[in-house]
Amino acid sequence: MLNLNKKFKKLVVFYSRTGNTSFLAHSIAVSIEADLLEIKVDCEDRFFEIFKNRYLNLLSIFSKPPKLLPYNKKLKDYDLIFLGTPVWSGSYAMPFKTFLKENKIKKKKIALFCSYSNKIGKCLYKLKKRLSGNEIVGIIGFQDPLMFKESQEIMKNKIIEWSSKISDDIRKKINNK
Ligand SMILES: Cc1cc2nc3c(=O)[nH]c(=O)nc-3n(C[C@H](O)[C@H](O)[C@H](O)COP(=O)(O)O)c2cc1C
Repeated sequence: MLNLNKKFKKLVVFYSRTGNTSFLAHSIAVSIEADLLEIKVDCEDRFFEIFKNRYLNLLSIFSKPPKLLPYNKKLKDYDLIFLGTPVWSGSYAMPFKTFLKENKIKKKKIALFCSYSNKIGKCLYKLKKRLSGNEIVGIIGFQDPLMFKESQEIMKNKIIEWSSKISDDIRKKINNK
């Protein structure tokens, strides 16, 4: 049968230091057949040397955003972009600050997700504000999804349901234009 649906491209961009955001990002990408872009820090170990003391949260606010390894995806090629970050000091992770500086994202449909350990703070609110000029189509946060084996599957199903609904809604909108 002839498929008249317009090609609809989806991208999941994420940074993850200990695997939680990565788990969410991969769950989304597999379920909605999106491309994946993992943000990686150049010399990650050196960057994290500074976090080895007890002022970890303060340092994550005041230290300089890190340099990233090169990546090969162009955001302008995508109709829907999911952005995922761990919460750092009540905000989005420093590598994301670099990424957003390097990519001037405008007029995109964007869904935001994050992983946190005990307090989500204003992370997604700040990210949303930083992305003004785009349409934010969804926001969700999860508490350390890898922490308990028993709840992993529940969180996975929840993020799949959330991202699939967003993806379906946007696809319908694009095809109705
Ligand atoms: C520098 C730093 C700062 C953090 N600040 C917070 C915070 O303010 N609130 C919170 O709930 N978790 C905080 N966390 C914990 C992470 O957000 C949480 O463990 C998250 O699930 C890690 O995601 P990842 O495994 O993808 O790196 C912080 C972690 C780091 C490394």
